[in-house]
Amino acid sequence: MQIHIVKSPELAAEAAATLIAAAILENPDLVLGLPTGSSPLGAYRALIRMHREGLLDFSKVATYNLDEYVGLDGTHEQSYRRFMDENLFEHVNIPRENTHVPSGVGPDPERNARDYEAAILSAGGIDLQFMGIGRNGHIGFNEPSDSFADKTAVIALSPSTVEANKRFFASADDVPKTAVSMGVGTILRARRALLLATGRDKAEAIRGMVNGPVTPMLPASALRFHPNCVAILDEAAASLL
Ligand code: F6R
Repeated sequence: MQIHIVKSPELAAEAAATLIAAAILENPDLVLGLPTGSSPLGAYRALIRMHREGLLDFSKVATYNLDEYVGLDGTHEQSYRRFMDENLFEHVNIPRENTHVPSGVGPDPERNARDYEAAILSAGGIDLQFMGIGRNGHIGFNEPSDSFADKTAVIALSPSTVEANKRFFASADDVPKTAVSMGVGTILRARRALLLATGRDKAEAIRGMVNGPVTPMLPASALRFHPNCVAILDEAAASLL
C-alpha cells in the first residue's frame, strides 16, 4: 500500500481528485467505483471544477457505487443514489445510464446484490475503486466480522455505524439497519484502489489498517493485499502512524 500524507483535508481531496482525473485522462472509458459519505465530498467538488474548466470529460466513464441502504429508493433524500446525483452526477456530463448504485428496494435485496455483482463483472470489472473508511475500519458497508465477504451482499450495519449515520436521519430508529454493499472481494478485484481518510476520528482505523494484523475485524486491512492501492491521508488521520 502506498501512503501519501498531506497537511489538510482540502489537500487530501485535491490529491484524490487528481488521481481520479489522471485515470480518466488515461482511459476515458474508465470503470470507476465510488463512495458516498463526507470523505469524498471535497474530491467530488474538485472533479466538478475540473469538468467545468474543460479538463475532464465523463461522457464515457461508467460508475459503480459501493453501497445503498436497503429500503430507501433513489428519491429518498438519504439514499446514496440521491447523494450521488446531487454531489456529482448532476454536475458533470456523465450519462445517467452509465451511473450505477445498488438497488435497495424490491422484494429480494439478495437478488439485487447478485445482479449488481454480475453487472460489475459484465462491465469488465472496476478499474479504479475510490473509497472512504469507517471509524471501525469498515469499507463499503463491510463491518467488522469473523470473515471477509467476497461478493456484493446484504449486510447488517453495526450499532456504531448506525450511530455514526444517525446525524443524517431524524433519529437512530430511522437509520436503515441493512445495506446492499460490494464485498471486500469485490473491492480487492478492482485493478486499482484509492482510500481517502481525513480527521482524527479515523486515526485508530488507519493505524489498524496500516500496522495491525490483516483481519476481517478491521475490513480495510484487507487492502494491504491489494497490489495497487494508494491511501491518501491528512495529518490528523495519519496521527497514530
Ligand atoms: C459510503 C461507504 C462508507 C464510508 C465510511 C466513511 O459509501 O461505503 O464505507 O466511506 O462510512 O464515511 P464518512 O466519509 O462519512 O466518514
